[in-house]
Amino acid sequence: MAKQSHTHAQWSSRTAFVLAATGSAVGLGNIWKFPYMVGDSGGAVFVLVYLVCIALIGLPILVSEWLLGRRGQSNPINTMQTVSRDAKKSPDWVLVGIAGVLGSFLILSFYSVVGGWSLNYTWSTLTGDLGQSSGVSVGDYFTTLLGQPGTLLFWHTLFMLLTFGIVAGGVKGGLERAAKWLMPLLIVALVVLIGFGMSTSGFGQAAEFMFSPDWSKLNGGVILAALGHAFFTLSLGMGIMMAYGSYLGQEVDLIKTARTVVILDTVIALGAGMAIFPVVFANGLDPSAGPGLLFVTLPLAFIDMPWGLAFGTIFFALLTVAAITSAISLLEPVTEFLEERTPLSRLGSAFVAALATWTLGIAALLAFNLWSGFQPFGFNVFDLLDALTSKLMLPLTGLAAIVFTAWFLDSEDVKRELGLGPKGRVVWHYVSRYVAPIGVIVVFFNSL
Ligand code: PHE
Ligand code: NA
Repeated sequence: MAKQSHTHAQWSSRTAFVLAATGSAVGLGNIWKFPYMVGDSGGAVFVLVYLVCIALIGLPILVSEWLLGRRGQSNPINTMQTVSRDAKKSPDWVLVGIAGVLGSFLILSFYSVVGGWSLNYTWSTLTGDLGQSSGVSVGDYFTTLLGQPGTLLFWHTLFMLLTFGIVAGGVKGGLERAAKWLMPLLIVALVVLIGFGMSTSGFGQAAEFMFSPDWSKLNGGVILAALGHAFFTLSLGMGIMMAYGSYLGQEVDLIKTARTVVILDTVIALGAGMAIFPVVFANGLDPSAGPGLLFVTLPLAFIDMPWGLAFGTIFFALLTVAAITSAISLLEPVTEFLEERTPLSRLGSAFVAALATWTLGIAALLAFNLWSGFQPFGFNVFDLLDALTSKLMLPLTGLAAIVFTAWFLDSEDVKRELGLGPKGRVVWHYVSRYVAPIGVIVVFFNSL
């Protein structure tokens, strides 16, 4: 193991670590992406497969990434270099770290576009533009927005600037501490929306849609989507959690901590679904509306609720903050990579990373308007970036992390480090060696 722990700062406490990890995990993936994927992939079937993937694949991979990071004590590329050297394995394992940097860049490009939508909605609920005053009906607001590349560009730029400012200004820690208060508020806001959903005629149907499976909808595509989203939502396969793990002290219980993060993330995703689907069904909307689902449905709730627009502003502001805490975790690997491998300063690296991501983001936002006809491999650019990362890169790099941990590290050592009891050892043994890796491989090749 690298002997640099004395030079590498550590988290002040387990709480600080949980906050940073949850800040990365909880974001648009939970509130924007999860519900629309449920809607696209046949409801409860997707939810169930997703929960299984989270428990049997996501959780052990999260633990593995932290464990590797804690041993490597550095960024993912150096960490993979160190741990593969220590285990006398091929240096090619650094590819895992490199894939993570590339994946972060690709994800952030379209993530920022959606973060821009969230900023736009914060503003337009505040000014009332989302109500009647703009002359565009609430139902048409989103489609109108997508048709305006200049407007999309403005909000995408603002979102990237905020993310860049936070990373460059070194105020990440402050934001993460703020998340301590904002995260519970986000949960409260979801509870209010669920309460509103209960008052509509769509609640029963929503509960049925999300929790009562129609097995005829099950197929390889749904399973791959659920698997990919398990990685996306827990920020796995990017080296991000590995990097966070490098700041962890030996005393932190990885399994217990992973459980906390996973439960929070899952509760927020399910809550978002239960906030959105009642509105979908009460208004006779299509649950498979795709990436716009959140943005076309919730405004209908806000215009019906007392103080709805004010509440909408708070909701979208909280969503934006959740998105930014994830976005900074995505900008970090690219920034750090440039800082280490080029003569650029920290500030210069953050700037170049943000600029490159912003540029690719433009291609993603043009997919909704000027470039909608450009469909390489049958996807528009936005969907292509999403599919390439969630369905291909994240599962493969996540797979590499757990295979390395389960097969190439001394397994007695690992079990001791995880503080497992006799039962836990058996479960960890089978899950980490067989269930999780084989699960990824089977799903993956089945859907090709
Ligand atoms: N987990 C984040 C979310 O759910 C997105 C993300 C993916 C962040 C990958 C970092 C890495 O919104
Ligand atoms: Na998430």
